[in-house]
Amino acid sequence: MTLSVRDGAFDVVIVAGPGVAVFPSEGARVLARECAAAGLRVAWVGGDWLQARGLIPLPGTGAVVVAEDPQGRLHRLQARAVVRMARPSTRPDPFPGSCSDALLELSVAQELFREGAFSFSPSSVILGTGNSALRFASKLLESGVSEVLCIETHADWGAKRYAGWEVERRRFEVLGGKLIEARPLTLIRKGPLKLEFRVEDERGIRILEPVRVVSAGPFSASSGVREYPPGSSLYELEQTAPAASVASQDLDVEGFVLESDRALALAMRVVRGLCADLPSEERERVEKTLKKARFRMKRHPAHREAPYSPAYQGKWLSHADSTALRSFSGTPRLGEFPRPLASIECFEEIGCRECQKVCPTGAIDLSARGSEKRVLNEAACTACGICVSSCPSGAISLLEEREGGGMVRLTLPWRGKYRWKPGVLATLVNRRGETLGSARVLAWIDGPVEQVQLEVPAHLQWEARGIRAPKSTTEALPSSPSAEDPQRVEVSIQGEKRWVRAKARLSTVLFEAGYNREGDALACSDGSCGRCGIEVDGVKRLACQTWVHPKMALKLQALDARSGGSGSKDELCPCEGVSAEKVRQTIQQAKLQSPEAVVAVTGVASGRCHGALCQEPLRRLLESEGISASDWIDWRFPWTDWKLVPGKRE
Ligand code: SF4
Ligand code: SF4
Ligand code: FES
Repeated sequence: MTLSVRDGAFDVVIVAGPGVAVFPSEGARVLARECAAAGLRVAWVGGDWLQARGLIPLPGTGAVVVAEDPQGRLHRLQARAVVRMARPSTRPDPFPGSCSDALLELSVAQELFREGAFSFSPSSVILGTGNSALRFASKLLESGVSEVLCIETHADWGAKRYAGWEVERRRFEVLGGKLIEARPLTLIRKGPLKLEFRVEDERGIRILEPVRVVSAGPFSASSGVREYPPGSSLYELEQTAPAASVASQDLDVEGFVLESDRALALAMRVVRGLCADLPSEERERVEKTLKKARFRMKRHPAHREAPYSPAYQGKWLSHADSTALRSFSGTPRLGEFPRPLASIECFEEIGCRECQKVCPTGAIDLSARGSEKRVLNEAACTACGICVSSCPSGAISLLEEREGGGMVRLTLPWRGKYRWKPGVLATLVNRRGETLGSARVLAWIDGPVEQVQLEVPAHLQWEARGIRAPKSTTEALPSSPSAEDPQRVEVSIQGEKRWVRAKARLSTVLFEAGYNREGDALACSDGSCGRCGIEVDGVKRLACQTWVHPKMALKLQALDARSGGSGSKDELCPCEGVSAEKVRQTIQQAKLQSPEAVVAVTGVASGRCHGALCQEPLRRLLESEGISASDWIDWRFPWTDWKLVPGKRE
């Protein structure tokens, strides 16, 4: 058998790192477009076509990227610069139970939630308070989960307040979620829908009994762009855009804009580095674009210095903050326009401008924030409510400003499952989700995001910013599977007959059937981690890449010879069975100074998942031991289990 190797040479190669959900995402597109516009030859490695199998750094700058196509042919792509797209890690620091199947990674939880057959009711805990954690927590609340708690595990909250964080937090709290700061101690599975999660906060040890615990970092701040080693032209760009196109339904506007700005800045850096003989006008354009992109990137975390966190007196906004809110130029001027108007309560300097883009009359100008001009042009606002539905953070309402007492109309967005009817009483809540009273529903406006028009007492129009559905509507636990259900098929798991969901991946099905192992829960979903190996009708397969069909016989294998996949250890690297304590001891005894040395000596991050589980906790551990790892990129992916035999790869 001959080994077919094809060679190619490019200026820039953009590579999808392990576990990257979307490729090419917005960042990869921006990079490719800008580099190509500067006359550079660009290649993409990722998606359904070429899969990156490894990278050999060249002396000085650049590297050779080794990729495999669907026919098993190898491609050796020489590149002067390489950009690897990396998924942000959502793993916490290890604690007893953090490697068990009781802790779901955010991407897995999102997939299970989307599929809709998996219950997060009545209460779930999210470990992490970043934008994506809060967004997922809000979705759970909107779907009817009655209690969702977000736990911040690291004290330096400010460092993780990404652009748009305040609006996400406000939406989460309006929906009734709670956010606390605590340290996880242990997580134990007590039953199929019962976990015991011990956490410690300033008041002592709390015992929580959620049905799910979701790990949703980031647990430390990241610049999103790395070059390692410095001057090598080998970069990593963090993927924060949720999808390839702006038309995505689950739009994470901030993540999208952030990735795009970072990619633009990186593209200009690459162009400047690779094109030494750029004409002067072109060089000027590159410098200008770089400056602009850097300025926009700086603006994303600008709110860290002055976050909008209103003070409260009891359930009411403090007088000073209430006055500041009313005098903000995005909220309607008192008494001057006695009709419903949009109230744009968005104070942060964030990249999201959805409301401005959709307003048909051009009544919103977000660039006016912090200037003399007004954000809301009341005369132009027709109270059509389009901006209310478009705001991903629920920061806009329609209100009727009226001096004096009486009842006024207030229109709020509604993303929950409950269907409102005129006349029903809704529970009004403030910006922190505390109950203020009840209000009668006047009208319900259908749409992708519904709107509910309420009649509220005038003194509540500036306080009420959310509603709750009547209690009886909260979601019930799903009924147990039955043989008559056409959505289910019969399979055999470990010789036992089970009815499982049809049209689902095996990793999901195993999880739901209670056979889940830690590797199934990891579900990198693209098969890159290789941890969910399973025997299907006698043939070895990956559970996350195989779909259910009737009568299939499934045989589970131990996840890993060394760790056994027991799921009970608090190991830093479960693939290799290395504990955090062991790594610390080795660093101190051997006086290790670099991430590479730690990886080589301890074996951590060298297992089957290529560090998908342990690399970020390792990075945090290294930083705590005084070894700089913030720019470190592990370029070994996924060399470890790759066999150089075409057509025989498992
Ligand atoms: S309510 Fe309609 S007109 Fe008024 S600001 Fe919003 S989108 Fe523009
Ligand atoms: S849609 Fe408008 S109000 Fe809502 S978060 Fe974006 S910029 Fe702010
Ligand atoms: S956990 Fe898989 S390599 Fe460390």
